[in-house]
This record gives sequence, C-alpha cells and structure tokens, in this order.
Amino acid sequence: MKADAPPLMQLNALRKTYRLRRTLIERLKGVDRVVTAVDGVSLSIQRGSILGLVGESGCGKSTLAQMLVGLLPPTGGTIEYDGTDMSGLAGDAWLNYRQGVQMVFQDTGSSLNPRKRIRTILREAVAARGLKGDCQDTRVAALMEQVGLDIQLLSRYPHALSGGQRQRVGIARALAMEPSLLLADEPVSSLDVSLQGQIINLLRELNENLGLTIVLISHDLAVVARVCDAIAVMYSGRIVESGTPDQVLTAPRHPYTQALLDAVPRGLERRDRKRTILPVESGPILTGCKFRRRCARAVNACETTDPKLATAGPGGHEAACLMVG
Ligand SMILES: Nc1ncnc2c1ncn2[C@@H]1O[C@H](COP(=O)(O)OP(=O)(O)O)[C@@H](O)[C@H]1O
Ligand SMILES: [Mg+2]
Repeated sequence: MKADAPPLMQLNALRKTYRLRRTLIERLKGVDRVVTAVDGVSLSIQRGSILGLVGESGCGKSTLAQMLVGLLPPTGGTIEYDGTDMSGLAGDAWLNYRQGVQMVFQDTGSSLNPRKRIRTILREAVAARGLKGDCQDTRVAALMEQVGLDIQLLSRYPHALSGGQRQRVGIARALAMEPSLLLADEPVSSLDVSLQGQIINLLRELNENLGLTIVLISHDLAVVARVCDAIAVMYSGRIVESGTPDQVLTAPRHPYTQALLDAVPRGLERRDRKRTILPVESGPILTGCKFRRRCARAVNACETTDPKLATAGPGGHEAACLMVG
C-alpha cells in the first residue's frame, strides 16, 4: 500500500439528517424535528487498507455506511469513489459503483432469506455478476472455500447454520459481487468472543489475499484494534480522532478515545478508570463541543467553541479537541 496513492474512497463534509415525525402541535407551530446522524465527516479510505470505524451506538456509523453503499442519499457533502463524485452517477457508472461497494450486516439471521438454501442464495449472487450454468456452481464452491465453509453446507437453510457460519455466508455473498470495498457493519457483534476472532481473521485474510479494501465498523474498540491499518473514532456524527492504531491506541489524544480505551479489558484487570466518561446528559448540545458534558476535562471554552479535527501528532494523527495542540 503506497501512502501517496489516491484513496479508493474520499468523503468530504458528508452529512445526513433525518426528519422525524412531528406531533400535531409541532406541525401547527411549524417546529421541525431533525436528527443530524452524520455531521460533516471527511475521511480517506486508502486502497488495500482496513479502516476501523468505532464509536458507541447511535453515533451515526450505520447511517454513514448506508450512504457509502448508496442505500441512503446524503443530505450534504460528497463521496468520491475512485476519483469520481458518486452523486452524479447514473446508468452503468451507478451500477458499477453499487457492484464495487458491498456491505456485510450484523444480523445475518435476517439478512439471509430463510426460505432459500445457501446454494440458491449464493447462486443468485453470482448470477448477478453474469455467471450461468456450471460456472455458477464452480464460483459458488470457490466462494465457500474462500470464506472457510464446507460445501456440504450448501444444501442447508440459513437457520440450520451457526451464527458464525451465517456471517461467513454473508461475506461470501458480498464477495460474489467482486467488490473493491467491503463495508462490514458490526459483523461480529452478535457472535461470542472466540468466533469474533475467527471472522476478524477471515477479513484480514481477504484483505491480504484479494487486496480487498475493508471498512470495519464496530462499537468495540477491541475488535477494530486487532486488524486495522487506520482507525477513525466517531462521536455524535463526527470523527473526533483518526490515525494509525499506534497513534490512536497508544497515544490517544481525544478524551472520548481515552474513555473507550479505558473500557477495554486488558487481561483480567481493567485500566485505571478515573478518566472514564460521565453519563449521558439529556437534551441536545447546540453550541461548542458535543462531548463536553461527558468530558472530565472540559473547560469554559468548550461550551462555546466547536473543535475541528486538527493535527494531534506526527504522521497524520488528528483529533477534534480544544485541549489538544
Ligand atoms: N431512519 C431513521 N430515522 C430517524 N432517525 C434515525 C434513523 N436511522 C438512524 N437514526 C438516528 O440517527 C442516529 C445515528 O444512528 P445510526 O446511524 O444507526 O448509529 P449507529 O450505527 O452508530 O448506532 C441515531 O440518533 C438514530 O436514532
Ligand atoms: Mg449501527
């Protein structure tokens, strides 16, 4: 992986707001109820790398992922894929984009059709790439091998597989499209810890053997810490820290990243938990830093100044905190 090569995907000030249903009174008063799920995310995804996107539930990870695969239109900002802005894509160029960026979901129990055998599910996927007849079966067998599944399982239905096996089928189905970028949204959250490791190892193998670029999304820093080349920490719709695992895990600069690290068990004992974040306070934060009410280090300026992502150390390490720099 060359550091100076153009990124496979470049996000520029990407935003997504959801408009919520309003009560009658709110409608009469003309009050808008809007949730900003993704609030100006700029990020480069380097070709051939594994990027870990980490942050607690509700911070906007899945919304971001759905915009990247083209399932949700952004409210603002741009996504460039292979140097081209995807918002203007139509026809073949759009199909090419949808084929090239594939997603694996957390809950394979519901993302695989329960009435279809694994063989049918994978045949349909390879047929979408134009394969016919025997070529389909050859390709399906190769995919099963690639994800470490016995071809005997092809005649089974999804419910007859274990959670880990179903997740592998989900990955095989995504690989059938021969993607350049695989977005794995909480791929191991429903699995127990030993299976988590196996799926994470599989993602690493696919990255190494196929040169597949992967975005691994998790609420668990311990999961992304294992395999990623770059880590982006998300809080309340924004990237608050990014860098290499060395930078982010051994020299975290943002208080939120530090709190996430404090929560990761190391062996049997946990790290000193003094810095652990304060509980969530109700009510939206409209000015200053979104994290300030949970931050043990907040000062007066944090109430008024909105911190921007800025250099936090050598080698591209960035953090969005007034106390850094
Ligand atoms: N379809 C939707 N309509 C309204 N609000 C939504 C919708 N999907 C997500 N949200 C809200 O957007 C925010 C981010 O959600 P999400 O992207 O699912 O975060 P994550 O994947 O990190 O848990 C949350 O506040 C969530 O409640
Ligand atoms: Mg999610």
